[in-house]
Amino acid sequence: MHALDNRCPHLGFPLHMGSLCDGILTCHWHHARFDVCSGGTLDPWADDVPVHDTAVHDGIVWVNPNPRHGDQVELYKKRLLNGLEQNIGLVIAKAIVGLIEAGVPETEIVAIGIEFGVKHRRQGWGSGLTILTAMANVLPKLDKQGRILALYQGMLHTARDAAGSGTRFLLDPLPNTNVSEEKLAKWYRDCIEVRDTQGAERVLLTALQNEMDEKRLSAMMGSAATDHFYINGGHTLDFHNKAFESLTYVEKKHHNYVLTSLVSMFGGASRSEELHNWKSPVNLVEPLKEIFEELSQLEASSDQRKVNDEELLEILLGDDPLKTFNFLKEALLAGNSPVRISQIAALAAAERIVRFHTQNDFGDWNSVLHTFTHAHAVHQSLIRSADPWMVRGIFHTAATIYLDRFLNIPAARRPNGNGSANEIPPTSELLDLLDKQQQVTAASEWVIRYLHSGGKTEPLFNVLGHALLREDAEFHSFQMYEAAVAEYDHWSAESGSFAEKARETLILAVTRYLAAHAPTARETPHTAKIAWRLHRGEKLFEEG
Ligand code: FES
Repeated sequence: MHALDNRCPHLGFPLHMGSLCDGILTCHWHHARFDVCSGGTLDPWADDVPVHDTAVHDGIVWVNPNPRHGDQVELYKKRLLNGLEQNIGLVIAKAIVGLIEAGVPETEIVAIGIEFGVKHRRQGWGSGLTILTAMANVLPKLDKQGRILALYQGMLHTARDAAGSGTRFLLDPLPNTNVSEEKLAKWYRDCIEVRDTQGAERVLLTALQNEMDEKRLSAMMGSAATDHFYINGGHTLDFHNKAFESLTYVEKKHHNYVLTSLVSMFGGASRSEELHNWKSPVNLVEPLKEIFEELSQLEASSDQRKVNDEELLEILLGDDPLKTFNFLKEALLAGNSPVRISQIAALAAAERIVRFHTQNDFGDWNSVLHTFTHAHAVHQSLIRSADPWMVRGIFHTAATIYLDRFLNIPAARRPNGNGSANEIPPTSELLDLLDKQQQVTAASEWVIRYLHSGGKTEPLFNVLGHALLREDAEFHSFQMYEAAVAEYDHWSAESGSFAEKARETLILAVTRYLAAHAPTARETPHTAKIAWRLHRGEKLFEEG
């Protein structure tokens, strides 16, 4: 005698309506097959069905109400890994819902995905892991449904990236571990310079084995990632930043997998100093090389001098790149904080998005997005380690802000909120707006109306998160949301009109970007919704 849960684990169809033949129970909706003894399925996309122990006493059948496999948390974790390995969205979604409902900390769930991703994608760190880490970072901004969607989108993109790729095997560290950190850092950069990714991996593993601390590792790898200009259109530095951020979620014993996953992207890296628009009509490369030489001996900033934020912002958005570079150089030599300067550079990059006119080519949204996320990565990397070599990243940002200037001609009008109603509009209005295409201007006006009428930012970030997560969003939209949220938080403790406008700029930038990319078919989040409804016992098969 056997007892099984009557709900098909795939989409909940009643299994008592299925067919039993030769010990195989077949569900009549999508024909998933189950071993009636163990509940195990022959169709992994459907999941195993829970089984219950039975006994007969005095002619009465007793069924244990608890399923045979008692530890549900372990079961969900196993299913999450299965889903990642097989790249099956519904299995991933159901496991995430089950783990969240069982009270497993979200960071623990994130760790499963990151550890999987860094080991099972032969090409190393990619967009999937970047999305997963970005979504892990924004979890505190989201309600429960948003957190489930964020985890699901991150995991799904990680699984898709790894699908069919094969396991990544690590090399060994060098046998002699008495090499100084300075020498290891030099060797690492030398290997990256000649695109020797295997040599770089062995040096990096040696540094990890020698327990080089995170700050020094970040400086070593960040220096190599800025030895050339705006590598891979800014993605390389951005991926470095995200990988270092992901270390907070995974156990130390996996840090070697995380950090070595960054090395392979240098193999075929594009270096922007080789691109014609960096050399002509204005040669940005040679003046920058001279400046970097001057800055190479830069001492750690004492943060005593303070450049005027407003002046710096204006210069970064100006159309004389050599003037901008010199201003930045002088500011750094005068002891201004590289962290603060990079924060203003990130704000200038966000301003480019706010001024981006929709009459530009649609693909150009990516250009301003790349500049902004690179600027954010520079800012975060400098917070982690204000290494003199890393300040070159600020100049790479400044150069791309300059190169993006044509995308602000003509500039989009910044909504001023004049005539805002006193009543705070409900956040659902924004979602309604984004059900339609080409709502960039309307969404910008809505968000300014919301802010000027006293709307709080917590519900706003939550609804913007839903505007992202309910779509089949592409990689850059995830980057945009997370970078804007993080940069906003950096400004949140500051008072004054400049900081207030900076916060508004970041919100406007993310709102415009998301509005430009909505709506989509919304297929991906639909799977997560199904998993959520199944968990709550809703009857999907009864929908008319
Ligand atoms: S196979 Fe049973 S509901 Fe789909």
